[in-house]
Amino acid sequence: MNKIIKSINTVCCIGAGYVGGPTMAVIAKHCKNIKVTVLDINQDKINAWNSENLDDLPVYEPGLKEIVRETRGKNLFFSTDIAGSLEKADMVFISVNTPTKSKGLGAGYASDLKWVEASARTVSEFAKGHTIVVEKSTVPVRTAELIKEILILSCDKKDDKKTFSVLSSPEFLAEGSAIKDLESPDRVLIGGDNQKAIHKLSEIYQKWIPKNKILHTNLWSSELSKLTANAFLAQRVTSINAIAALCEPTGAKIKEVSNAIGYDSRIGEKFLEASPGFGGSCFKKDILNLVYLCRYYGLEEIAKYWEQVSIVNEWQKLRIASLIVDKLYGTVSLKNILILGFSFKANTNDTRESASISISRYLIDNGAKLLIHDPQVNEKQIANDLKENSSKIDCSSEGGWSYINNIYKSAKGVDAIVVLTEWDLYKTLEWEKLFELMRKPAWVFDTRSVVNSENLEKIGFRVWKLGQ
Ligand code: UDX
Ligand code: UDX
Repeated sequence: MNKIIKSINTVCCIGAGYVGGPTMAVIAKHCKNIKVTVLDINQDKINAWNSENLDDLPVYEPGLKEIVRETRGKNLFFSTDIAGSLEKADMVFISVNTPTKSKGLGAGYASDLKWVEASARTVSEFAKGHTIVVEKSTVPVRTAELIKEILILSCDKKDDKKTFSVLSSPEFLAEGSAIKDLESPDRVLIGGDNQKAIHKLSEIYQKWIPKNKILHTNLWSSELSKLTANAFLAQRVTSINAIAALCEPTGAKIKEVSNAIGYDSRIGEKFLEASPGFGGSCFKKDILNLVYLCRYYGLEEIAKYWEQVSIVNEWQKLRIASLIVDKLYGTVSLKNILILGFSFKANTNDTRESASISISRYLIDNGAKLLIHDPQVNEKQIANDLKENSSKIDCSSEGGWSYINNIYKSAKGVDAIVVLTEWDLYKTLEWEKLFELMRKPAWVFDTRSVVNSENLEKIGFRVWKLGQ
């Protein structure tokens, strides 16, 4: 491939999702001289990114709308004009989704790369001059090979004006803190072998990130580092959840244990919160992808080792759901249960793989009538996740759910409150008021350590708190 690399004036990103949108907004904020266009095949999503009312952006992230307000229409654009934008782009980020394959070879484990492949084909068709293609999506190690091949095949040997270089720069932001993570990342990673292209991407990051935090590796290390980081983080959540389960029958308290081990500088204090199970678009898919890769390379024992992280995570959700039924005298049929939190963690409207989905589904299937609250997730999304529309709950029908806005108005006669997401507002509820309204015995199941169980027990609640 020819390597005539000029300065970067125009950047595009394919995929206006949770990663593409916020990442490009932050690049636009810090690189005022670069025109940044975020592209998507989904017109509704692009319309939402262009909405007048910044509360209607498709992604909720603290600090995001302020940056969009500052940059949109100046050097940040959202568009479905993929061909026209790619033609002018000096650098193209690929940030499309890479879900687990649902059918065919590797179903249930391997990442589905059809969108990455489609993006590479689109870039190969429309790009002009030299284009630096940057993999942002989390992909299996050696995916860049596929991208390179598609791009090279599109280059006309006689026309050296159309050339490409491929870099891997996986995104490590966590949802809910995306802007903070993008503004001051622990590190950014650039994998590749074309020094000029690496330098150009590095120049963009250096506008706001110290040089010593920009790491360079080969393509394959970069791709594998992203999978490995997610696998280690997911493994930590599973480890602490496993110990939480052991705390419950032994009298140990998970908060005290995690505090005590977190003081060990070799372990560190972060990512030690017990929970109803990790969710989000990445952990499960990336662990399964790692399992697939290990099996592919004949490493069966290693595949089993990582697979157990996901198996224990599924077990944790089921354990909590069945324990709720057990405590409520072994049946939740016709009982009203208030579910607090549907997103997979606080400060995001994303529900992908949220523990709330499987726990709610289990309770509904056991006949419970759920009243579901979340400050950012809307009713349509919940209906989509539970695969059934919200019902006006009546006294006789078994199983079902309603969407609620007002926790206090909905608490009348409920048997239990289950906290599934650690939203700040659940930390300051008026528990005396809720207790008065509820049917007795009034239960609180806290899977996120947001309530003070001693205070609640004084009020009269029966409290089950994860890991104690
Ligand atoms: C990202 C990653 O890129 C994924 O690999 C990583 O593991 C998690 O973060 P995310 O931004 O969360 O994915 O995905 P999503 O919010 O679904 O956004 C992807 C967007 O790409 C969607 O809006 C979809 O419409 C768009 N898309 C998909 C295209 O524009 N073109 C395609 O060919 C496919
Ligand atoms: C994760 C990685 O952190 C990020 O670097 C990567 O780019 C994408 O995947 P994300 O899934 O957005 O980010 O959020 P994260 O904060 O990692 O939380 C994932 C899940 O783990 C959530 O359900 C969260 O509640 C859970 N979790 C996290 C715990 O249960 N306990 C913890 O201590 C931390």
